[in-house]
Formats: sequence, C-alpha cells, structure tokens
Amino acid sequence: MKKIALGVCSSISIYKACEIVRLFQSEGLGVRVIMTEKATCFINPYLFTSLTGERTVVKLFDDQQRPIEHISLADEIELLLIAPATANIIGKLASGVADDFLSTFYLAVRCPVLVAPAMNESMYLHPQTQENIRKLKTLGVEFVEPDTGYLACGKQGPGRLASPESIVHHGLRLIKSREPFRNKVFLVTAGPTREFLDPVRFISNPSSGKMGYELAREAWQLGAEVILVSGPTSLEVPAGVYLEKVQTAEEMRAAVEKHYTRADVVLMAAAVADFRFKKALSDKVPKSEIAGRLDIEATPDILEELGRQKRRQLLVGFAAETSQLETKALEKMKRKKVDLMVGNDVSRSGVGFGSDDNEVTLSWPDGRFRRIPRASKRKISQEIMAEIEVLLNERKRNS
Ligand SMILES: Cc1cc2nc3c(=O)[nH]c(=O)nc-3n(C[C@H](O)[C@H](O)[C@H](O)COP(=O)(O)O)c2cc1C
Repeated sequence: MKKIALGVCSSISIYKACEIVRLFQSEGLGVRVIMTEKATCFINPYLFTSLTGERTVVKLFDDQQRPIEHISLADEIELLLIAPATANIIGKLASGVADDFLSTFYLAVRCPVLVAPAMNESMYLHPQTQENIRKLKTLGVEFVEPDTGYLACGKQGPGRLASPESIVHHGLRLIKSREPFRNKVFLVTAGPTREFLDPVRFISNPSSGKMGYELAREAWQLGAEVILVSGPTSLEVPAGVYLEKVQTAEEMRAAVEKHYTRADVVLMAAAVADFRFKKALSDKVPKSEIAGRLDIEATPDILEELGRQKRRQLLVGFAAETSQLETKALEKMKRKKVDLMVGNDVSRSGVGFGSDDNEVTLSWPDGRFRRIPRASKRKISQEIMAEIEVLLNERKRNS
C-alpha cells in the first residue's frame, strides 16, 4: 500500500485534517500523521493514531519510535502534505530551520511536498509570509491556495484552509501523475444540453454530468491539462480543471471546436440532446398557441464531426443505449472514427444517468470488447484512463 505523511500544525482548522486522512484512505493510501508539539494543544495525537492505525509522530527524540525515524519514514512515503500549515512552519521550511520532527523531516524527504496554509488574513498577507511562500515555490514545493471567507478570528479574507476534497485532489495529482498524461491536453464534455423552445421551456435528458466530471478529475490527477465543456449540472468543478459552461448543442459544438486542435485526447461524455426546435421563440407563448405546432429537427452529431476532422487526437466516444449495446457501440465507433467507445446501458436501474454507479462495455475498432462490471463512476473513470494510457503508449511506440 502506498503511503503519505500528513504534517499537522497548530491551527484551529486542524479538525479538517481528520477528513483529509479519511479521504486519502478512501483512495487506498496509508497515512502517517506527524503533529507539531503545539498542534497537540488542540487535538490529542491518539485521535490520528486511531484513525490511521499507525502511531502519530510528535517528538524528534522519542524512545518509542524507530531510531532515526525522520530518515527511515522519508524513504517510505510518496508525498509529504502539510495541512494545516501555520505561518511558523512555512517560515521554518523556507529558511531550513530543523528544530522539531516535522521541519527536520521536510529536509529528509525526496518525494513531492504539498503545503496547505491556514491562518488569519493579516498573517497570510504579511510580506514575510508571502516571501517565504515564494521562496518555497522556487524550491519546488507546491501549494494549495487558501480559500477566502470567514476566518476563525471573526475576520474575512484569504487564509481559510482549502477544502479537504481540494487538498486531497492536489495531493493525488502529485502522487499519480504519469508520463503519458504530462503536457497532454484532455478535452472532456459532460452533462446534458438544453434545446430551448422559449426562455422557460426546453428539450433535455436526465444526465447529471457525473461521469464526465469524474473523467476530468481523474485526467487532471494523472497530470493532464484538462478543458471541461459542460452543460448545466449542479456539480463542483474539480480544482485545476478549466471549465467552459454551455447550454445548447450548438454552444457545445462551438466550444469543442474551439479547443479541438489543441487537444490530444477528447472524451465526449456529454449527453447532447438529440432534437431541438426548428424555431426558438424569444418570448413565452401561451401553450394553447403552440400545442400541435412544434417543429423539431436533429441536433448536430458533434462526435461524428470530430471524427471527420480528426488528425492526431485520440477520440473517446460514449454511447448510451437501452438495448443491443455492444452491436450498436461497434457500429457507431466505426462510423464516427472513434478510437475507444464506452457503451452504457441506461435502461438498467442504479447505473448510468444520474446515478453514482455505472456499468460499461469498452470497445475498440479491432473488434475487442471489455466489460467493466458495476462500479462507482470514479472507479470506471480510472479504468478508462488506464486504457487511454495504453493507447497513448502504443502511439508513442509507433511514432
Ligand atoms: C487559538 C489559536 C489559533 C491559532 N491558529 C493559527 C492558524 O490558523 N495559523 C497559524 O499560522 N497560526 C495559528 N496560531 C499560532 C500558532 O499556533 C503559533 O504560531 C505556533 O507557534 C505555531 O506552531 P507550529 O507551527 O509548530 O504548530 C494559533 C494560535 C492559537 C492560540
């Protein structure tokens, strides 16, 4: 099991460190917590020991730990994350002071280091703190910028510890980032589109956008630059991902075309509405006037258009079907020049549209199939990325 070290300092936001531990564990990572002595004034180390199943390290000189633990532990971890990081620890790291376990450990590690500051806004904006942060960045230390909002001291401003989800998302990118995804641009579409009749009525579908957002999140963690073109959803955009919001199929087509030439990998996970009204009205019209007089037409097939314009892009299509999934996916893949097709059966309850789970069949142009049994959309997106990694490696070998 891969392991990370979590350094925890004496900030009121220390309670969020428990959630950070839990989130890393849910990603299958082991966590070893290192607390500063002053952090133990807020939380007893035994809380982290119970959460992690590993003794929390506090003291540099401690009979109960392995001799020279700051060196032996440094060899075991994939990431050193300090969250919350006080102004004090940031100053010590920037100047090489090594007077407790955490600051000494920082000098011993060779893995990536990620720092999530948390402090009062005057302390954060103090030129000395800013200078220390700048210096650490030049030394390769990565930062998760604090949020702006209400602080424990009652003031408002920058300095609030970033959300545990965002901190873990950044940490996972440092751990998981892989060669084939670095410097690659991933273009992902997600969510439904809305084809308006008038300002208050539209044709759409039940897509939640979850699959596309998970793909965007995973691609960013693997090291890619990610552009997410999204129809209306209520989902939070993963940090680091560039978002383009659209409503209609026509807007989605324009946004995708704008970024297509830069893209190396294109994942068309959006559920574009199949039809639109031939004539959209600018005012709401009484239903008695429109009943029976609605003219509809097919929306553009964006995937097919991309297939025609394809140069070096790796094109991944998504097909939602209610029957004969494999045959239809294969036919669409050939017609649209898709490199990998992800077919899902949206007629089954508990998977597909709107749900957290999915069950998909991957197909390749050479006729190969792979069924991925029901799993979370996060897990499915990891499986899809693993297959994309294989395809990118193949292309590299053949180029
Ligand atoms: C109630 C309380 C809350 C504090 N919160 C923070 C904080 O959020 N960020 C910070 O940089 N310092 C904070 N401090 C000050 C640090 O605890 C102090 O600078 C300490 O020396 C830092 O030690 P450490 O970095 O070894 O944990 C707080 C102090 C107190 C008493």
